[in-house]
Amino acid sequence: MNEMLRGASRAVLFLLLFQGLGGDGSEFVGDGRDFGGDYSKLSGIIIPGFASTQLRAWSILDCPYSPLDFNPLDLVWLDTTKLLSAVNCWLKCILLDPYNQTDHPECKSRPDSGLSAITELDPGYITGPLSSVWKEWVKWCIEFGIEANAIIAVPYDWRLSPKMLEERDLYFHKLKLTFETALKLRGGPSIVFAHSLGNNVFRYFLEWLKLEIAPKHYFQWLDQHIHAYFAVGAPLLGAPDTIKATLSGSTFGLPISEGTARVMCNSFGSSLWMMPFSKYCRGDDVYWKHFSKGNGGVHHSYHCSEQEPQSNYSGWPTYIANIEVPLVHDSAGYDAYPSLSEVTHENLTSMECGLPTQLSFSALETSDGTFFKAIEDYDPDGKRLSYQLNRLYHSDPVLNPLTPWDRPPIKTVFCIYGTDLKTEVGYYFAPSGKPYPDNWIITDVIYEIEGSLFSRSGNLVDGDPGIASGDETVPYHSLSWCKSWLGPKVNITRAPQDLKVAPKAEHDGSDVQIDTNVEHNYGEDIIPNMTRSQRGKYITYYEDSESIPGKRTAVWELDKVNHRNIVRSPVLMRELWLQMLHDIHPNAKSSFVTKVKRGPLRDEDCYWDYGKARCAWPEYCEYRYVFGDVHLGQSCRIKNNSTDMLSHYL
Ligand SMILES: *[C@@H]1O[C@H](CO)[C@@H](O)[C@H](O)[C@H]1NC(C)=O
Ligand SMILES: *[C@@H]1O[C@H](CO)[C@@H](O)[C@H](O)[C@H]1NC(C)=O
Ligand SMILES: *[C@@H]1O[C@H](CO)[C@@H](O)[C@H](O)[C@H]1NC(C)=O
Ligand SMILES: *[C@@H]1O[C@H](CO)[C@@H](O)[C@H](O)[C@H]1NC(C)=O
Ligand SMILES: *[C@@H]1O[C@H](CO)[C@@H](O)[C@H](O)[C@H]1NC(C)=O
Ligand SMILES: *[C@@H]1O[C@H](CO)[C@@H](O)[C@H](O)[C@H]1NC(C)=O
Ligand SMILES: *[C@@H]1O[C@H](CO)[C@@H](O)[C@H](O)[C@H]1NC(C)=O
Repeated sequence: MNEMLRGASRAVLFLLLFQGLGGDGSEFVGDGRDFGGDYSKLSGIIIPGFASTQLRAWSILDCPYSPLDFNPLDLVWLDTTKLLSAVNCWLKCILLDPYNQTDHPECKSRPDSGLSAITELDPGYITGPLSSVWKEWVKWCIEFGIEANAIIAVPYDWRLSPKMLEERDLYFHKLKLTFETALKLRGGPSIVFAHSLGNNVFRYFLEWLKLEIAPKHYFQWLDQHIHAYFAVGAPLLGAPDTIKATLSGSTFGLPISEGTARVMCNSFGSSLWMMPFSKYCRGDDVYWKHFSKGNGGVHHSYHCSEQEPQSNYSGWPTYIANIEVPLVHDSAGYDAYPSLSEVTHENLTSMECGLPTQLSFSALETSDGTFFKAIEDYDPDGKRLSYQLNRLYHSDPVLNPLTPWDRPPIKTVFCIYGTDLKTEVGYYFAPSGKPYPDNWIITDVIYEIEGSLFSRSGNLVDGDPGIASGDETVPYHSLSWCKSWLGPKVNITRAPQDLKVAPKAEHDGSDVQIDTNVEHNYGEDIIPNMTRSQRGKYITYYEDSESIPGKRTAVWELDKVNHRNIVRSPVLMRELWLQMLHDIHPNAKSSFVTKVKRGPLRDEDCYWDYGKARCAWPEYCEYRYVFGDVHLGQSCRIKNNSTDMLSHYL
C-alpha cells in the first residue's frame, strides 16, 4: 500500500511540475528557445555553511581610539576594515556569551536576510575565498532563466547552537514556513542546496519537523515540500578541524591572531557542531522518548556497537587529538595526574620514568567529552568546552547531532563532495606555557592525501588511511559517510571533469568508465574498480535508483575540488543543471542524467580550435561575432537551441 501511495504522490508531483507548462510546455518539447518558465513550479532553497552569512550590527557602539563606530545595520561579518582598525570593538559585536549564547551588553549582531546575505561577505576588500561563496551559483541560475523568487536563501546566525537557533530566532519554524510559502507561491516542491554546516542545520530541521508535525503527516509533508536534497561538502561525521579551532584557533585567513580567533570560535555555540565522532555509536532516539516519557529533560548517552572497540581509531584514519602532558607541576597548578590516569590509553610507566606522557584521543573520545575532561586541568577553557558539549549537544531536546545520520527520507538525495586534497586528520598539541588563549601549540599535524598519512614534516605515518583523501577541510571518512545511504546494488560511473582534458577534443564517452550493479554490503565502503589517468581530474558518480521504491540516491565525488570552492565549481554547476533539467523533462527515461557525453552548456565553454580553424564542438558551438568581441574564442557561442542541447543528455 505504501508503494501505491508513493506512486500516486509521484504522479501528483509530475502533474504539479508540468501543469503550469500548458502551451509553454509543448513549445519546450518542440522548439523551446529557452528554459525559462519550465521550472516554474520548483524553488531552490539554499542553506549556507559556517561563517557564510553576513551579520549586521543591531546596536550603536562607540569605538574609542577609532574613527569607525558601529551603527545599526553596519556589517560586522564581514567588514575587514573595521576588524583591522577596531578589533576590540568588533569583537564586542561578534562574540557571544559562551555559557548562555547571549549578546555582548554593548553590541549585538543579527544575520542579514535574502540572497545578498550569502553572496558577498566583504565586497572588494579581501579577494580570498571568504569574499564570495554563492555568487557564481546565483549567476548560473540567472543565466538559465530562473525567476528571482524561485531562489530563496535561508541565512541563519551561524554562531548559534541548533537549539538556540530555534529559541532565539525561531529559525526552524521560519524554515518550515519558507517551504510552505514556496509551495503556495510557485505550486511545487523545493530543491534544497545545503553547504557544509548547512547540512547539519538541515538534518536538525528534519528531526525538529518530526516533533512539530503529526507523525502520520511527516512523510506526506516531506514529499509535498521537498523534491530533492543536494548535500554539498557535508561533514557527516564531523571534522577534526573543529578540535584545532577549539584549542588553538582558526583564523579563516582573517588578519587576526590565532588567540583572538580561538576566543571568538569558542564563544560560539555552533563551534562544536562539527566535532568528529564515531560512526559506530548512536544516541537515544529522541523521537520515541517524546512519546514514551513525555517532554522531560534529555541527556543522550552513546550506545556503541562492538565494532567501536575493535576499530583502531573509531574508524578514523588516526587519533584526532594527541596531547603531550607536562611533567612537572608548575606554578599554574597543573597537578592533574589522577584525573588523567582515568582516561589515558598509555601505560603510566613512561610518566613514572619522568618523561612527558602523550595522551591520544579517538573520535569517540573527542565527542563524548572524555577529551575536554582530560584537558580541564591544563586549560581554563576546558570546563566551558565540557559545559557546551553537554548542554548544547548531548542534552539537545531534538537530536544529538554528534551521531551518524541515516539517509533522510527525501525522494532524491544527492551527496556531493571534493576529494583527493591534502586534509588534516589529526593533531599533536603541547602546552606552550603562555596564558589562555595561547596556551596550546600545535607540535604536529597528520594529513591524509591519496590513501596515505603524512606528518607535517612529510614523513609517512601509520594509521588506517581511507581509499581517498578529503576536501582540504573535511576528511574523506566523514564526507563519504553518505555512501552508506546507497542500497545493495550501485551503478558507478567515472568520467573526466573537464571537457578539454579528454584525449580527444571532446568528451564523447571514450574516457568514461561504467560499472553497473556493483555489490554494496551495508557497513562496507564501496571502492570503484576503475582507473584514473595521471593528468585528468574525474568525477565519480555512485547511483542507486532501485533499493527504495520511488527514491533515488546518488553520491558524486569531484577530484581536487576544495571544501569552500565547491559551490562555485563550474563542473558541479554543469552537472547540477543537467541533472535538474533531466529530472523535469517529460521525455527523460533513465533515472539519472547520462554521463557518457558532455558538451558545452554556456558560451564560456565554446572556444576557437586553431588546429581546425573553426569553433570547437561544432555540434554545440557556432561562430557568431557580436560587436565588442576581441578575440576569436569570444565569438564562438552556444547555438541557441536548448531543445537540441538537452536532447543530447536524455
Ligand atoms: C532546434 O533543433 C531541432 C533539431 O535540430 C529543430 O527541429 C528545431 O526546429 C530547432 N529549433 C530552433 C528554435 O531552432
Ligand atoms: C535565444 O535567442 C533569443 C532571441 O535571439 C534570446 O532572447 C534568448 O535569450 C536566447 N536564449 C539563450 C539560452 O541563449
Ligand atoms: C548570560 O551570561 C551573562 C554573563 O555570564 C549574564 O550577565 C547574563 O545575565 C546571562 N543572560 C541570561 C539570559 O541568562
Ligand atoms: C588496526 O591497525 C592494525 C595495525 O595497523 C591493522 O592491521 C588493522 O587492520 C586495523 N584494524 C582495523 C579494524 O582497521
Ligand atoms: C603496562 O606495561 C606493562 C609492562 O610493560 C605491561 O605488562 C602492561 O600490559 C601494560 N599495561 C597496559 C594497560 O598497556
Ligand atoms: C577490476 O577490473 C579488472 C578489469 O576490468 C578485472 O580484471 C578485475 O577482476 C576487477 N577487479 C575486481 C576486484 O572486480
Ligand atoms: C543501473 O543501471 C541500469 C541501466 O541503466 C538500471 O537498469 C539499473 O536500475 C541501475 N541500478 C541501480 C541500482 O540503480
